[in-house]
Amino acid sequence: MEQIKTYIAEHRDRFINELVELLKLPSISADPAYSKSVLDTAESVKNALISAGCEAVEICKTKGYPVVYGEKIIDKTLPTVMVYGHYDVQPPDPLDLWTSPPFEPVMKKTELHPQGAIFARGACDDKGQMYMHVKAVEFMIKNDTLPCNVKFMIEGEEEVGSDSLADFLEANKEKLANDIILISDTGMMANDIPSITTGLRGLSYVEVEVTGPNRDLHSGIYGGAVPNPINVLSKMIASLHDENNHITIPGFYEKVAELSAEERNHMAEAPFDIEDYKKALDIGDVYGEKGYSTPERYSIRPTLDVNGIWGGYTGEGAKTVIASKAFAKISMRLVPDQDPDEITELFSNHFKSIAPAGVKVKVTPHHGGQPYVTPTDTIGYKAASKAYEATFGKTPIPERTGGSIPIVALFEQVLNSKTILMGFGLDSDAIHSPNEHFGVWNYLKGIETIPYFYKYYTELSTTV
Ligand code: BES
Ligand code: MN
Ligand code: MN
Repeated sequence: MEQIKTYIAEHRDRFINELVELLKLPSISADPAYSKSVLDTAESVKNALISAGCEAVEICKTKGYPVVYGEKIIDKTLPTVMVYGHYDVQPPDPLDLWTSPPFEPVMKKTELHPQGAIFARGACDDKGQMYMHVKAVEFMIKNDTLPCNVKFMIEGEEEVGSDSLADFLEANKEKLANDIILISDTGMMANDIPSITTGLRGLSYVEVEVTGPNRDLHSGIYGGAVPNPINVLSKMIASLHDENNHITIPGFYEKVAELSAEERNHMAEAPFDIEDYKKALDIGDVYGEKGYSTPERYSIRPTLDVNGIWGGYTGEGAKTVIASKAFAKISMRLVPDQDPDEITELFSNHFKSIAPAGVKVKVTPHHGGQPYVTPTDTIGYKAASKAYEATFGKTPIPERTGGSIPIVALFEQVLNSKTILMGFGLDSDAIHSPNEHFGVWNYLKGIETIPYFYKYYTELSTTV
């Protein structure tokens, strides 16, 4: 297996250049203006799978953006690993905060990436991490060391909620049948502290609209005498947390699975430096639910956050006006055993109930997703752990993360498969933010580590 190091050394520049080419395509799934680029990106991924040596490579239609599929079946009696990833990216705005254009990748050194990082939208989430798998499989196919079967399922709608994927899974159960799903679309603690993501939060996302008077009003003539929807919305939102930062929606916590003291103690042993955390974000203090540590707040606890709020006059200078409407987008991150549909319903009922007389409230649900926790006593987890040991020289720490990949729970429900999350990004890689980047060291380390997963997974599956 040491050959992987040699292979990476020989193909390093090509691996980087091919990723750079992929990153030039603005595959923004949220914005219909970019639909051609999204489709072109699917085409590129298809070609990348063919070049890697995959077979039966095709672009599969869905109701929305297509799924790119490819496989290498060496022996039907051997286990099958299915790699999932996404080729779509988040919108890059605000553009003026990027130090270089989001779809013109450049290499820059940073404190955490002294060997350089590629700066571009999608570098880490998820084109760079998805390409690690394509390159690792290329190595195994070309060197004749692929120990089991592999399937790729790379989608183009993850960043907008994977809406077409449930139907796609149902319709393609046979084709997608596998023994384990492998995903690199999360992070790790640090380059010298490998970790395996063992949990993802679920999501309920809603948009709210508060309507006051039937038209915008002069804030002098009417101010003080009518419900101002922006004031009202602000007050309603503020009331969603109490003085301990608990969420006030009745029933919100009812299904939350509390961790045992032992599990919490175990979590507290993982390295986490609160001073570094504050410094990296330039915040004077952390903030959150009373009674929980910062890592607990962002992983095992549910949350409610306003993601955007607007209404009224936001242009240059001052305009004296009371707007007719105010809006906000609100996300709730969920943990086992909360259900996104139930939470959306609880939110909607509560939000309407706290509106003062005189305004109308509309709640529109957007996408949602179930939370997921992966067991650590499986051969999949053990294989991943041994893979990191082989290339990092350290046992990885299991870590629940705060982000969401809604399809993971569906993989379990529809395909009956567990997922292993081997993320190689860092939290500071600025995914969804301006100046997203992915360390070259991380990219290559991922390519180096993945073949070991296949090796150990196959060994462990065939010996039991
Ligand atoms: N790759 C992220 C999820 C992620 C990132 C999980 C880092 C853990 C650590 C994924 O692309 C993503 O952004 N998911 C969305 C949800 C989706 C429904 C838009 C999210 O978490 O906001
Ligand atoms: Mn992602
Ligand atoms: Mn994302």
